[in-house]
Amino acid sequence: MAIQRGGFSSRLGFILAAAGSAVGLGNIWKFPFEVGKGGGAAFVVMYLLFCFILCFPVMVAEIAIGRNTQRNAVGAFKALGYKGWSGIGYLGLASGVLILSFYNVVAAWAFGYFIEIVTGHFDIGQRFGEFTKDWITVGAYSILFMVGTAFVVSRGISGGIEKAAKLLMPTLFVMIICLILYAVTLPNAMEGLKFYLVPDFSEITPAVIYSALGQAFFSLSLGMGALITYGSYVSKNDNIVTSAAQITLIDVSVAVLAGFMIFPLVFSQGIETDGGAGLIFVTLPGVFQSLGDVLGIVIGGLFFLLLSFAAFTSTISLLEVPTAYLVDEHKVKRSKATWVVAMVIFIVGIPSMLSNGASEALSQFIMLPGAVKSLDFMSFVGLIANDTFLPLGGFLISVFVAYVWRKHRFNQELQIGAESLKGSWLQSYVNIAMSYICPVLLGLIFLVTVMDKFFGIKLLEKIIGS
Ligand code: PFF
Repeated sequence: MAIQRGGFSSRLGFILAAAGSAVGLGNIWKFPFEVGKGGGAAFVVMYLLFCFILCFPVMVAEIAIGRNTQRNAVGAFKALGYKGWSGIGYLGLASGVLILSFYNVVAAWAFGYFIEIVTGHFDIGQRFGEFTKDWITVGAYSILFMVGTAFVVSRGISGGIEKAAKLLMPTLFVMIICLILYAVTLPNAMEGLKFYLVPDFSEITPAVIYSALGQAFFSLSLGMGALITYGSYVSKNDNIVTSAAQITLIDVSVAVLAGFMIFPLVFSQGIETDGGAGLIFVTLPGVFQSLGDVLGIVIGGLFFLLLSFAAFTSTISLLEVPTAYLVDEHKVKRSKATWVVAMVIFIVGIPSMLSNGASEALSQFIMLPGAVKSLDFMSFVGLIANDTFLPLGGFLISVFVAYVWRKHRFNQELQIGAESLKGSWLQSYVNIAMSYICPVLLGLIFLVTVMDKFFGIKLLEKIIGS
């Protein structure tokens, strides 16, 4: 029985929705602090290389699997006739549920900060710990964020996801440009830009390479079937390779632009750049305060609204993965599937919410071998889902495409809507990447993470010998 799945009404709609999935907290919150930790521009160079060399081919593969089968992450492998490989899809579902469970909490912080700043509470930066500990307030914002996400997803592809992306993505872009134009006029802005743009390659250590790789993969929403799912709603007239290139370009641009906005802001106050995860939540409110009441509210409010919008288009795609699975595989009505999944994920996220101060046990959840301090529950879930499941998923997807589904069928799908691709260097590159570059690098990153984080064995240092 054929089911009514819906689809994107235009190529632009798909590109904006997929770019919306990619552009998120990873670009605006995580990217700048990874840059700060990784020594500035040298990290940026590594990140860009990984996005185009490694991640872009995986994105092409995911979209191709989705469009070929017009199925969700699990059903796609079954539809291709490889039921055993649908394990990749289940792994993706697990990743999606886990990532959204804590991603929604950070999104709730962002939205909470927006409210605090526009009501003039600039001291929120100093109260970051208190704020995240207050589980009732964070819980209320989390519910709000999840309800908004579910509302959009329940309305389907063209009427919900595409519409939201078409509205939010251009707005996000305008906001980021306005913020940059303002930030570069601040005192010391040039110092910030210098740190950001002049690479010091001596800063590139194995750990920096490794985090740039992980960051690129997470930032492009790969390895969990989000793009298989979105790809399943793409028209047969669309050129997959060009679309993937455009999505990668938008994502990378927003990450790079986020740096142009954040480093001048941070340096204007002479603050250290390796502020870690707190760079945005602890440091920036103070910067906004120094702009004076009115300007602080406008610029600070705009910033946290931007962060919330970016997170929102990502939570939408995270929720769509398990929703599409229930709709396709279990014939559940979309609206029912959406609300049930959203509720389950919210509940799964409660321990993460409590692990930032509210519960002592969850805030110091686990001491991993070789670690210097214990990990809170939320970071532990992040470690499992982002750092372990995603590279594993990406590794399996590339092995599947190259060695099971095989090159000729993969290329055939890519050539639909893109006749000129046949025999081109781009197609050859994507093929080579699928067969060698992606399995090797992604397999390696998975192994290194598992050995390092779960067994305390520093494999990367051993391989590179430093
Ligand atoms: N790409 C998002 C970000 O950078 O914030 C996070 C993400 C969304 C990862 C959707 C995976 C995913 F399926």
